[in-house]
Amino acid sequence: HEIGWTLEMAEKGGYEHFMLKEIFEQPKAIKEAIYGNAEVVERVAEEVAEYERIIFVGMGTSYHAALVGKYLFQRLAKKIPIVEDASEFRYEFEDLIDDKTLVIAITQSGETADTVAAIKLAKGSGAKVLSIVNVVGSLATRIADLTLYTHAGPEIGVAATKTYTTQLTVLSMLAMALARKLGTADEGLLKELEAELRRMPEYVDAVLRLDDKIKGLAEKLREKRDFFYIGRGISYPTALEGALKIKEIAYVHAEGLSAGELKHGPLALIEDGVPVVALAPSGKVFEKMLSNIEEARARGAYVVALGDDIRLSEVAQEFLRMPQVNELLSPIVYVIPLQLLAYHLAVLKGNDPDRPRNLAKSVTVE
Ligand code: G6P
Repeated sequence: HEIGWTLEMAEKGGYEHFMLKEIFEQPKAIKEAIYGNAEVVERVAEEVAEYERIIFVGMGTSYHAALVGKYLFQRLAKKIPIVEDASEFRYEFEDLIDDKTLVIAITQSGETADTVAAIKLAKGSGAKVLSIVNVVGSLATRIADLTLYTHAGPEIGVAATKTYTTQLTVLSMLAMALARKLGTADEGLLKELEAELRRMPEYVDAVLRLDDKIKGLAEKLREKRDFFYIGRGISYPTALEGALKIKEIAYVHAEGLSAGELKHGPLALIEDGVPVVALAPSGKVFEKMLSNIEEARARGAYVVALGDDIRLSEVAQEFLRMPQVNELLSPIVYVIPLQLLAYHLAVLKGNDPDRPRNLAKSVTVE
């Protein structure tokens, strides 16, 4: 006990938890993901371009990345992928895939049992498999035909953070490269997105500066028993991911919903003071989100709005001002405050965010 510093403390580099350190490493991780894939993504896109039937698989946070991937492929490459949770895919798709199918398996660890089983099934049926993985040399990379690495560096905290935003970075790059190959997106738009992606580390840095404000918000919300996260379009998966983060480490019930679904049941649960976190970047569906927020407000919801349009500050009790980015890249920045909110709630509740109860970093059994 004479040594004041343990190895673990040294590894945390001055942060109280690995999760917080990893959240703050995101600007650097994203930069690495961009540089690490700049060339290889072109070659992979050439192969992906050959397939009409594309199925994304993944679990947990990687499943949410797959959902963002679907929106990116639709909007930029005009392809309509299927997204399946790998545990469902493995028992449902046995006789539905063949050599005309491309399976894109997303897994941080490359060892998740269900995702690995999905890859094996796909390979056994003659499908081509592209894996998007963080851990170099992991099982998924050894059995897939092609691999794109996320280059996030080791992630110790059980809840995925920097591996998620780097998965989104790689998927954005792949969708852009694909769109350029196929001629499915306007060159001006692609140039704008590429420039914004290069600036992404700065945008993420700007959002990380909201940390104190988010900590204050967590203090206000610490006794709340239910959280609702709403988003539309490409922000819908962010709503799912925000809710997952709160469940995983703060042990609070949370639901992620497409804002359109609110009226179809969940609105009955909204009463005075129930937190509704609204993801509202400017773009195609912003006006719709505004009216969903007003709807929730009218039922007494305590609305936390994330967006770049100042009108949100009038309709929401809490407004987190986000940098203005194209909505196609917004999932990378909008998830950051949700990670921080979950982290601070977990710490306030006395939980260890790095080792949440009942959960494992990598689920290698079914
Ligand atoms: C576990 C982890 C999650 C992760 C999921 C998928 O449940 O706790 O954070 O998202 O596995 O992991 P993978 O390594 O396949 O991305």
